[in-house]
Amino acid sequence: MQTNLRKKILDAFTKAEGEFLSGQALADIVGCSRTAVWKHIEELRKEGFQLEAIRKKGYRIIDTPDKVSQNEILLGLKTKKLGSVVHYEESVGSTQKIAHKLAQNGAEEGTLVIADEQTEGRGRLMREWHSSKGTGVWMSLILRPALPPQKAPQFTLLAAVAVVQAIQEVCTLEPEIKWPNDILLAGKKVTGILTELQAESDKINSIIMGIGINVNQKKEHFPDELQRIATSLAIEKGDNISRPALVQSILENMENLYNVYLQEGFKPIKLLWESYAISIGRTIKATTITGIIRGKALGITEDGVLKIEDEAGTIHKIYSADIELND
Ligand code: BTN
Repeated sequence: MQTNLRKKILDAFTKAEGEFLSGQALADIVGCSRTAVWKHIEELRKEGFQLEAIRKKGYRIIDTPDKVSQNEILLGLKTKKLGSVVHYEESVGSTQKIAHKLAQNGAEEGTLVIADEQTEGRGRLMREWHSSKGTGVWMSLILRPALPPQKAPQFTLLAAVAVVQAIQEVCTLEPEIKWPNDILLAGKKVTGILTELQAESDKINSIIMGIGINVNQKKEHFPDELQRIATSLAIEKGDNISRPALVQSILENMENLYNVYLQEGFKPIKLLWESYAISIGRTIKATTITGIIRGKALGITEDGVLKIEDEAGTIHKIYSADIELND
């Protein structure tokens, strides 16, 4: 109930778009007493929101803290479904694990799990994912498309496009995608995406979309072994970036792309993905679990699978690999 009221108050401020809202107007919109409104306003202040209060005019929010808890994400969020439920934790092992449990227990589509710190963040191929406190976006989103499991790789590419668009919007930087799911700035990794499934043989029950973004780390925040290959948005921008603004933009772009996907299929997403991809048309080395393939990356198939043509002219379909550019 408390959370519901808070959500309604934040929705009202979102719709007011920076205009003042009187205590009475808020109480009417939300359906509670003015005293209850006042209590919530005080709670928001304690959390670091800056509210201007002017007699006879009411309240407006003039600044929000750089936190990724429910309130900061909901204020200003313009989605219908994605992020409508937010589970925030200050410190967790992995948001991915929590999202899996929630999905198993029937969590609705669009449920977001997000943490300020992960102590056991994990990447593809069970690698460790460095997720230090207060510096990044560590989030897992639950989607429930009514599709067969073979379509799941398309969602990694859809998520990569959404993150690229969000970085362009919020940071005015131009990231590139390295197949299938690495987002790079200045040739270094700034984002990783881990798509996991709960599925039956013919149908997806849920997709757990894990997204890790290095946002406000300085170079020295990265362990030595990562400094050469990883970067953050702040390093590339030369300024700190608002994490809640970035999360909102990801959710908004992802919802748009998801709707496009459901109405028009994968083709428009594929075209966008290819426009951001660096590996297409280049000579690459793909290290797969069965061996190494060298050749020219031709593009991706309708299923999101990478096609490589080797020197002998044989075309290989790659479902999962580490990619290095060779030219
Ligand atoms: C990769 O590039 O290997 C994928 C990295 C995915 C990291 C994110 S951070 C949020 C979510 N929780 C995890 O433990 N992993 C994903």
